[in-house]
Amino acid sequence: MTVKDGLQGRTAIVTGAAQGIGRATALRLAGEGALVACADIQDCGETVRLAEKDGGRAVAVELDVRHGADWARAVSALVAEHGRIDLLANVAGVVNMNSPDTVVDLTEDAWQVVIDTDLKGVWLGMQAVIPQMIEAGGGRIVNIASMAALRGLPNLASYSAAKGGVVGLTQQAAFEYADRGVLVNAIAPGTIDTPILAGITDEMREANANAHLIRRLGRPEEIAAMVAYLFREGSFQTGLTFPVDGGWAAKGNF
Ligand SMILES: NC(=O)c1ccc[n+]([C@@H]2O[C@H](COP(=O)([O-])OP(=O)(O)OC[C@H]3O[C@@H](n4cnc5c(N)ncnc54)[C@H](O)[C@@H]3O)[C@@H](O)[C@H]2O)c1
Repeated sequence: MTVKDGLQGRTAIVTGAAQGIGRATALRLAGEGALVACADIQDCGETVRLAEKDGGRAVAVELDVRHGADWARAVSALVAEHGRIDLLANVAGVVNMNSPDTVVDLTEDAWQVVIDTDLKGVWLGMQAVIPQMIEAGGGRIVNIASMAALRGLPNLASYSAAKGGVVGLTQQAAFEYADRGVLVNAIAPGTIDTPILAGITDEMREANANAHLIRRLGRPEEIAAMVAYLFREGSFQTGLTFPVDGGWAAKGNF
């Protein structure tokens, strides 16, 4: 179920919008009436086409979340064109495919790519939009963290460090800006069926599905629905990390 027109008149930036959770989020927000800036290092043309096919409004923005200059350029162009940015979904992220991702075997280069994209990118996005949100009277931000921020998992050392940082930074931004109308939350997804899983075996997919009490992988639309809920209805939540994880957090070892 979508809530048509629930976000009418709002302008949103969604990073990582070329595919996966970011694309589903962009389509969901556009479906609820927001004008969505679909930002990615990959081409977001297909996401924009899908949004427009369903009667939504979307534009593609080339942006590397790791670079402050890209953020400054994107935000000032969007504000000049559309007046303000009300909503930011920091979705872009990577896992380390370049080296083993254990504390001992991780390389400095691989660590840096993951930290720069998954943590610094979230900080730079908030740094770019919060001043103009404050000037416009408020805004809402959702950062995508991970269950890897909340528990130990195999081969995710740099990723868990970055996502743990996202949880802390979300709380800190909420603390700093709530009194000026900027509400900041995070979502910790379970394992979601997106292209990020391309490298894993069928066996690993099944193990990931079975880690959830709801014994399947999550769908990107199920994360998008939570982002839309927080943007539309979340007037008394800030600084929180919400698991959307098929019951994973509630599961013991049985
Ligand atoms: N899929 C899962 O199981 C899962 C679970 C928990 C958290 N997450 C998080 O959800 C987010 C989305 O993941 P997904 O599964 O949709 O992955 P995905 O690989 O399908 O999509 C990630 C998107 O981010 C973009 N991106 C990567 N680096 C970027 C950069 N420097 N600047 C701009 N865009 C960049 C990619 O081009 C891609 O479009 C990520 O932050 C990921 O860590 C995913």
